[in-house]
Amino acid sequence: MKLSTAVLLFLGILALVAGLPHTYDEKGSKVFRVVNTAQVENGLEKLQHLQVNENFDFWTRPNLKAATDIFVPPHRIEEFETYMKDNGFTYTVMIPDVGKLILQEKALNKQGPDMDWDNYQRYETILNFVDQSALSHSEIASVEEIGRTIENRPMIVIKIGTPVANKTKPAIFMDGGIHAREWISPALTTYFINQLVNNFTSYDDMLSQVDIYILPVANPDGYEYTHSNASGARMWRKNRRPDVSCPGVDLNRNFGYVWGGPGTSPNKCSEIYKGTQAFSEPESTAIRNFIQRKSIEGVNWRAYFAIHSYAQMWLVPWGWTYDFPQDYEDLVRFGNAGVAALTPVHGTRYDVGSVTELLSPGAGGSDDWAKGSGFFKYSQTVEVRDTGEYGFILPPSQIKDCALETWEAIRAIAKFLDEE
Ligand code: ARG
Ligand code: ZN
Repeated sequence: MKLSTAVLLFLGILALVAGLPHTYDEKGSKVFRVVNTAQVENGLEKLQHLQVNENFDFWTRPNLKAATDIFVPPHRIEEFETYMKDNGFTYTVMIPDVGKLILQEKALNKQGPDMDWDNYQRYETILNFVDQSALSHSEIASVEEIGRTIENRPMIVIKIGTPVANKTKPAIFMDGGIHAREWISPALTTYFINQLVNNFTSYDDMLSQVDIYILPVANPDGYEYTHSNASGARMWRKNRRPDVSCPGVDLNRNFGYVWGGPGTSPNKCSEIYKGTQAFSEPESTAIRNFIQRKSIEGVNWRAYFAIHSYAQMWLVPWGWTYDFPQDYEDLVRFGNAGVAALTPVHGTRYDVGSVTELLSPGAGGSDDWAKGSGFFKYSQTVEVRDTGEYGFILPPSQIKDCALETWEAIRAIAKFLDEE
């Protein structure tokens, strides 16, 4: 046996032992929508089995209330359809060819060097934009590097607010882009930054109501990877922790509150791989450390926002259990205040409720940690547009509409916190 053959064989066995990696081309991949989970005996468990044990990439969480969207690469379509039929599931084809949709998106998306909200921009462009915004408005904004990613990219937080004498203002923290493929998220966080810093005369009120800390891209390694031409790259979700068979940890399963609980996987090939231990990843650790340090320095944390796509849902804790926090009613009231301002803009509807009530468990999220650690009363994951027509491949032409309406929600929330 030649040495190279032996090496390949060894790597192959290693991959088998570790679980099979998701290597696929998006070409010919489909997104199926399961519509009758509640009518299937043990339907939820059967879907969870597909996600956790069979490593299918779920675009929406297994759940009983709404449809569940599942990404299936061409070589697994037969296996998937057989499982569906054998178990009595009914489904529709939501996206017949993901590869085609990605090519269309690429053709429409014009990138850099200047920041805009008609296109999805690269991390470099985003970094320059955030630095420039702070530099040109240093009276209200400042930027801080809160850590470095696995691939040594800087993670930056911009703080925006006007000082108010004799008052500890309520503070908001926002993480964007923790899941690489959810491109709309960094587009929104940067839009909010732009509104606050570059249009600040219009939002003077808001800047004296709250201090807002925005981490526009929490997973820049993953984000940049999704912009590469590697096969399957556009649909990357996790960070880029290297591994011979299956790189990446799901950062939104790596936070240290009931870490490793329901809806997480110990298999590093899974899209919901929790990592080797709580806060094993530099990206989640940087967020925790920043929030802890600011709290010690006297920041009055009140609201935590994790910006994700897609579902059009305003999700509050808990994400790890079907139980509700004791102040659940308050959290829902807060969410309703946001959605009440959002929907009138274009009629876009959002559901408000707990993660497990509207979806299903997923422990180790930043939202649960923000609440469970006691730093934030109001913690939420906002799943923005759409409801599955394009899913993660939301056309760039929808960025501004999505930004405009969610921005109204953030403004309403600032007012809520100020009046509280
Ligand atoms: N789509 C997000 C995820 O799967 C939802 C997060 C909701 N919160 C949670 N703790 N699971 O990470
Ligand atoms: Zn997400």
